Amino acid sequence: MTIAQLSDPHIKVGPNDEGSAAALASAVDAVLALTPLPAAVVVTGDLAEHAAAAEYERFAELVAPLPMPVHVLPGNHDDLDWPGPHSVDCDGARVVLCDTHIPGRDDGHLELDWLAAELRTETPTIVAMHHPPLLTGIGGLDAIGLPDTEKAALAELLARSPQIKRVIAGHVHRTAFASLGGCVVATCASTNLQAKLEIGSPGFTIVPEPPAFLVHTHDVAHVQPIQG
Ligand SMILES: [Fe+2]
Ligand SMILES: [Fe+2]
Repeated sequence: MTIAQLSDPHIKVGPNDEGSAAALASAVDAVLALTPLPAAVVVTGDLAEHAAAAEYERFAELVAPLPMPVHVLPGNHDDLDWPGPHSVDCDGARVVLCDTHIPGRDDGHLELDWLAAELRTETPTIVAMHHPPLLTGIGGLDAIGLPDTEKAALAELLARSPQIKRVIAGHVHRTAFASLGGCVVATCASTNLQAKLEIGSPGFTIVPEPPAFLVHTHDVAHVQPIQG
């Protein structure tokens, strides 16, 4: 299993696009430069900045060069036209694509009963979502995360689901790792703008730090830089 994870491209169209399209094009080039190519790409939300149709059209154009399946799920900035939460088979693994988006809000909600029902196979599984079940220590990000009660319930589910190899997420615009219920939780940087590392801050600050993406295998999550 080799799966590339891109996150939070926040595509804007027009003169004030903040380089979002060029940055996603660079990320796509970086995926295409991998040897071997990953079997699939998962984009963990905030595909568009304003959920505008033109932004999703631009996103689709930008990922079109990828020859492998590209799976997406919604972030808090999105209003996706998609099949809804579902699972896909990728190169001998299963990827569960969750929907943590609450319309009109920036924080998230995880449907744990749905997720538990999706875990009926023994196949090695990656659980993907936008809002990560971890605390970054950056107050402004943690305030728009998942409820503590849902993180605790997910920890119990992970502890009894050894087929889950990793939980992967976006939203925090940084690469970070934590453990929950004995499972690794990994967040992926944005393809464009990042959140400044300011532990203890009550807010958060978006900065033009270098982008990166993650490459997941059964055993490891690699961080791959993106050259602009
Ligand atoms: Fe985002
Ligand atoms: Fe987000």
